Amino acid sequence: MKVERVTRDTLTVVTEGEEETRELGARLGALLRPGDVVALHGNLGAGKTRLIQGIARGMGIERPVTSPTFILMNVYTGPDGRTLCHVDTYRLHDPVEEGYELGLDQWLGGEDVCVVEWAERIRPLLPKDHIWVEIVILGENTRRFTFHGRGERARARVRALARALAPPEARADFSPVPRRI
Ligand SMILES: Nc1ncnc2c1ncn2[C@@H]1O[C@H](COP(=O)(O)OP(=O)(O)OP(=O)(O)O)[C@@H](O)[C@H]1O
Ligand SMILES: [Mg+2]
Repeated sequence: MKVERVTRDTLTVVTEGEEETRELGARLGALLRPGDVVALHGNLGAGKTRLIQGIARGMGIERPVTSPTFILMNVYTGPDGRTLCHVDTYRLHDPVEEGYELGLDQWLGGEDVCVVEWAERIRPLLPKDHIWVEIVILGENTRRFTFHGRGERARARVRALARALAPPEARADFSPVPRRI
């Protein structure tokens, strides 16, 4: 995978093939904490589920993760007690209305790490602080992931991911304290 761009609150990574996307997800999964919300935006086949499979791997979850397209969510528990809630809003007809009825807003920002496919469909239900991920299909096996840290804790995770992906000699450049120049 290739890190294309890092800013104060974004990180852009290009992956070649689904295994690189899982690896990227795993790096993120290792950093996520209870209550973190990761909102995924990308077309059919963009790689949302592949990224979540990686996040699960990074959380030490061994049960196979498949898309909960016919139900709203799956919940997995990792060996350290962190839980991963995988939400897929694709089948909801009126996502915001049904999401509120099902109490999705309570799950998001609760104690789970929540990752949402088709997050743009339930935007009002997302907590203010979340990582927004834009996924673009660049070619058959190439995908571009842009992570936006929206809110303090989300920004902290995006920066931590950027540090984790940086080559060792460059890591000193990623100061954990935001600096103004
Ligand atoms: N770099 C890549 N990263 C992720 N998937 C890739 C990549 N290159 C090719 N693929 C293929 O793209 C597909 C991604 O499928 P995936 O189910 O993860 O997408 P999705 O965004 O969850 O789709 P859906 O909207 O149907 O849920 C898989 O068939 C995978 O093999
Ligand atoms: Mg999917």
